[in-house]
Amino acid sequence: MSIATDRINLSAPWIDERDEELVLEVLRSGWLSLGPTGPRFESMLADAVGAPHCAAVSSGTAGLHLCMRIAGVGPGDEVITSPYSFVASANCAIYEGATPVFADIDPDTYNLDPAAVEAAITPRTKALVAVDIFGYPAAYDELIAICEKHGLVLVEDSCEALGATYKGKPLGSHGHLAVWAFYPNKQMTTGEGGAVTTASAEEHEVLVSLRNQGRLETSSWLQHGRLGYNYRLDDLSAALGIGQLEKLDRILEARREVAGRYDELLASVDVGTPLADDADHTRSWFVYVVKLPSGVDRDGVMARMSELGIATAPYLPSIHLQSYMRERYGFSEGMLPVSEDCSERTMALPFHARIDRGDQERVADALRAALV
Ligand SMILES: Cc1ncc(COP(=O)(O)O)c(C=O)c1O
Repeated sequence: MSIATDRINLSAPWIDERDEELVLEVLRSGWLSLGPTGPRFESMLADAVGAPHCAAVSSGTAGLHLCMRIAGVGPGDEVITSPYSFVASANCAIYEGATPVFADIDPDTYNLDPAAVEAAITPRTKALVAVDIFGYPAAYDELIAICEKHGLVLVEDSCEALGATYKGKPLGSHGHLAVWAFYPNKQMTTGEGGAVTTASAEEHEVLVSLRNQGRLETSSWLQHGRLGYNYRLDDLSAALGIGQLEKLDRILEARREVAGRYDELLASVDVGTPLADDADHTRSWFVYVVKLPSGVDRDGVMARMSELGIATAPYLPSIHLQSYMRERYGFSEGMLPVSEDCSERTMALPFHARIDRGDQERVADALRAALV
């Protein structure tokens, strides 16, 4: 097969010999689940995001679910979140019997519009799940002020944003609960895995209990003080996480360079490119998403790029229009016009730390060709 027809994938993890070594060490130790490696990983992750406490969990979704438990969310409550996110941002509320309420987004950042959040608050609102979509920090000054004014628990879904900073401080260091995810398309991976960070020692203690079947710090293995889950991260995954964190700065820098090359290559292509960082927002590059001009058949563009060997993804469908959401809550088109418009026009290009310039040129050429 010639190089020109090699398929260019959407994402790829960066796994090297050091990762293999660390995982092998755990495998050979025979201590595969709750051993000494998990706490080492947690402490490195806490340092990386500037959080006092970190609880590793089995996925970002599990972390969000536990945050709903911490927030005391239950039947009759409402939880506000973004429609332009991965479904887990909303599903976590449903798991606890609450109703997800979607507030519309800002068309430039793709994050929650604080004015829309404020307008969505009712006496039943209990929590806000703010999302740092595509690694771009949400408007925390405004969102924190809204939560304080209305007595809401703020949970940050930072699953796509490891390494981003807001107002010069890393996401994760702003005090409230923040959730991280390590699926292999993320900046760093543990295979499956996630974590919750917080400034609160009490919240951390509850998280550690909830993820481990409700066991208490003081109880023996078969005594359970509360209803919990098996949301543990095993030591093999944590070992991979350590290898990834050791090179996190290099990974983030490489991703930034790749994004810069796309900015350059797409300057002459008729698409909207991601918002640039500013003094308050430094993005961590999760994906590179372009916005097609209004009226262009995005799915047709994706199909033509696929024929040219380029994988793309329709990031992101609006959550409220997923079939189960429509059926459960009667959501329909027109409710969240900004999110819906973005959902029809945005598309992720192949993006990972080690994609080379040649492949990026092929992506840019294919996009240009697919648009005409
Ligand atoms: C914004 C967002 N929230 C939550 C999740 C859930 O993470 P996980 O797939 O680890 O459950 C993801 C990951 O896909 C995500 O992108």
